[in-house]
Amino acid sequence: MMEQPRDLVRVIESQATSDGAGVKLRRSLGSSAFARLDPFLMLDEFFSDDPDDYLAGFPDHPHRGFETVTYMLDGRMQHRDHMGNTGDLGPGSVQWMTAGRGVIHSEMPQQSEGRMRGFQLWINLPAAEKMRPAEYRDIPAEAVPELTFDGGLARVIAGRLRIGESICDGAVNKRPGAMATDPLFVDLRLEAGRSVEIPIGPGYNGLLYVYEGETQVAGRTVPRRTAAVLGDGDGVKLTAGEAGTRVLLLAGKPLNEPVVQYGPFVMNTRAEIEQAVADYRSGRLAEPA
Ligand code: CO
Repeated sequence: MMEQPRDLVRVIESQATSDGAGVKLRRSLGSSAFARLDPFLMLDEFFSDDPDDYLAGFPDHPHRGFETVTYMLDGRMQHRDHMGNTGDLGPGSVQWMTAGRGVIHSEMPQQSEGRMRGFQLWINLPAAEKMRPAEYRDIPAEAVPELTFDGGLARVIAGRLRIGESICDGAVNKRPGAMATDPLFVDLRLEAGRSVEIPIGPGYNGLLYVYEGETQVAGRTVPRRTAAVLGDGDGVKLTAGEAGTRVLLLAGKPLNEPVVQYGPFVMNTRAEIEQAVADYRSGRLAEPA
């Protein structure tokens, strides 16, 4: 039982935008410098049945200073990076990339019709790890642990999920060196009118993103395509609306460090951003493969 259920303190509606070579998406976290929740920098949802919205893909581009997590629901994308990694992202799979010092990669659709749907989350790295070597992990759908509970299903991408007496460890758990933020990343499905209580340790920042139906939290209704930032407490109670709901639940330890972002570079100071831009221009952003 929760002693201190978390309240809903802020709603961030997603904004229509485009990124890459023109992929249409909805951005909630990261839609402005004020719409972040330490350590989470950005959350994009892409969802379209129209190839014109996604065919252009994300050709070669850099990242430095944080982690990107891509979670696919429908469709196929292919990842390629300067380290020589190739990853095929299919429904239910996860790509966890620690950009660290630098990655140059592309993410291109592997289909010319049908539905493309998924998410990209950016998680910040602490100052001490922003220049660590890049790392890339592909997690196939069948390697994402699932927890079935009365009234729903949870897919645990990262962190440790507890529901009642059940514990489920995520596909990405404590990796050496890279999990200062100890992220919890869960994809939750709840049947109509059903509720679930999920502990989130005090001091961790938490939010949810509703991508199907409506979800009730602390007496308020969060509509589809909306992020809801939680107050502090020891857990959250979610209740599905009358059509059921699907929700991403995210929590992590805040870094409490300055964030200076310039597009795909997220550092602590302006000088470090200038260095990243200079390194990229001179071909020294990423370590050689
Ligand atoms: Co990228």
